[in-house]
Amino acid sequence: MGVSQNQIRAARTADLPAVAALYHRVWRETHAAAMPPAEREARDLAYFEAKLSVLPTNILLLEDGDKLAGFAAWSGPILGQLFFDATWRGQGLARPLLMAAEREMARQGVVQAELHCLEGNIRARDFYERNGWRLDRTFAYPVRGGPGDDTRNYWAMIKPL
Ligand SMILES: CC(C)(COP(=O)(O)OP(=O)(O)OC[C@H]1O[C@@H](n2cnc3c(N)ncnc32)[C@H](O)[C@@H]1OP(=O)(O)O)[C@@H](O)C(=O)NCCC(=O)NCCS
Repeated sequence: MGVSQNQIRAARTADLPAVAALYHRVWRETHAAAMPPAEREARDLAYFEAKLSVLPTNILLLEDGDKLAGFAAWSGPILGQLFFDATWRGQGLARPLLMAAEREMARQGVVQAELHCLEGNIRARDFYERNGWRLDRTFAYPVRGGPGDDTRNYWAMIKPL
């Protein structure tokens, strides 16, 4: 599994089912436990398919041969997603995909990128900080839940491009 088998390319419409499946699987693995039950239940595969279908075409894939290892997606200045399948984490693959997304955002005119990372996702925060991002603020974001349990804190991180 050499680096030469890895390639970064823009997603096409035909890729979206595989991207949604990875997004759903990794979200359940890494984010679901931190959410109220109602939010967890709402985020089924159809939810992620619908979410991706309304995103503009700003999705980059990193493939290992013909397998989808991870994807990055953004909308304007907001890097909305950077998700890697567990098999391909910890191998230095996320960095080149993040770099490619940042380059493309800059090319589109973004001067300062922002992302929102669930508070407590230390692995992601460390990764972003090693790549030049810094914490700007923490904010509460509404999620589906009962009274007194209907927000989760997110770290807003920024990077000048
Ligand atoms: C966040 C995420 C994209 C980061 O990707 P990652 O591959 O896990 O990145 P990491 O920085 O943890 O892995 C790099 C590690 O791989 C190891 N590594 C192995 N081979 C490597 C190589 N050739 N080059 C660089 N690092 C390598 C290093 O030990 C490095 O750790 P270090 O920087 O402490 O030395 C990934 O963990 C992920 O998809 N998480 C789940 C979804 C998620 O939370 N997304 C973020 C939402 S805000």
